Amino acid sequence: MNLIRRPRRNRQSAVIRDMVQETRLSVTDFILPVFIMEGQNLRSEVSSMPGIYRYSLDLLLNEIQECVDLGVKTFDLFPNLPESRKDKYATESYNPDGLYPTAIRAIKERFPEVVIMTDVAMDPYSSDGHDGIVENGKILNDPTLEVLGKMALAQAQAGANIIGPSDMMDGRVGYLRQVLDEGSFHDVAIMSYAAKYASAFYGPFRDALDSAPKFGDKKTYQMNPANSREALIEAQLDFEEGADFLMVKPALAYLDIIKLLNDNFHLPIAAYNVSGEYAMIKAAAQNGWLDGERAMMESLMSIKRAGANVILTYFAKEAARYLSKNN
Ligand code: PBG
Repeated sequence: MNLIRRPRRNRQSAVIRDMVQETRLSVTDFILPVFIMEGQNLRSEVSSMPGIYRYSLDLLLNEIQECVDLGVKTFDLFPNLPESRKDKYATESYNPDGLYPTAIRAIKERFPEVVIMTDVAMDPYSSDGHDGIVENGKILNDPTLEVLGKMALAQAQAGANIIGPSDMMDGRVGYLRQVLDEGSFHDVAIMSYAAKYASAFYGPFRDALDSAPKFGDKKTYQMNPANSREALIEAQLDFEEGADFLMVKPALAYLDIIKLLNDNFHLPIAAYNVSGEYAMIKAAAQNGWLDGERAMMESLMSIKRAGANVILTYFAKEAARYLSKNN
């Protein structure tokens, strides 16, 4: 056959395939979310996330050392708190001597070059398990912003580099930018969860933090998975309010949204490869139903190909190890 176009010519050897490869993952793309708990010398595995642990601060520092040695240098912290520290107004979230600011200070002291991203949302500290103040079954927007402001300020004072508002309250990016600037934290960046969907894929994360909502769901603040044009509104607002990065969450079921934001905004686009996406691959791999390592790398690749150059993923350490062996 005389075929003028034979695309297989560019696939015929490893060297040629490498040469024409469009997307490459690098360890510098990754942010590792880490779970921290009170106590000493404690490590407990999240049952729905094999290989992922909640660490007390002393052991977390060792874990961070291992990650840094592998080239993972940005961490997103999440606190697991006992019910006794939770209340309706998430007051523990801005206690300067609380677990979270203490952890930030300790990490920055031991690893000054590491970038600490923080989570700004009420749910780990809320006795209602919601991301906002609850009154008569409703999640209040504007009063919640005040809590978020205090939380972000406490985190910035402790040394946080990137603030990650993950709650989807309206106006939070602008409000936090103002609070940070008034506190002279002009260099603290905001990575907004711009398009965060009300997703079933957060299940294992809520196990990790014991933070599931005590009633109802999060559909009055997180986005409807059916909508993509709404993502443009959210992203536009966050851009105008001063966000430094725009994030899409979850990642794999929302690759079109990642592409949409990447096509329409000139800020770095991040994607959160969430707990349920991690758990699915791990569970199937443990059953011998697929090759976990290949499925991990393929999913991460798809997220980057779609347009996210920053990837928050529980696979960060494992993928870093893979990349160091295979590059
Ligand atoms: C809540 C928050 C959630 C995640 C990060 N921040 C869950 C939720 O909205 O209930 C999920 C992360 C994951 O599933 O890995 N502020």
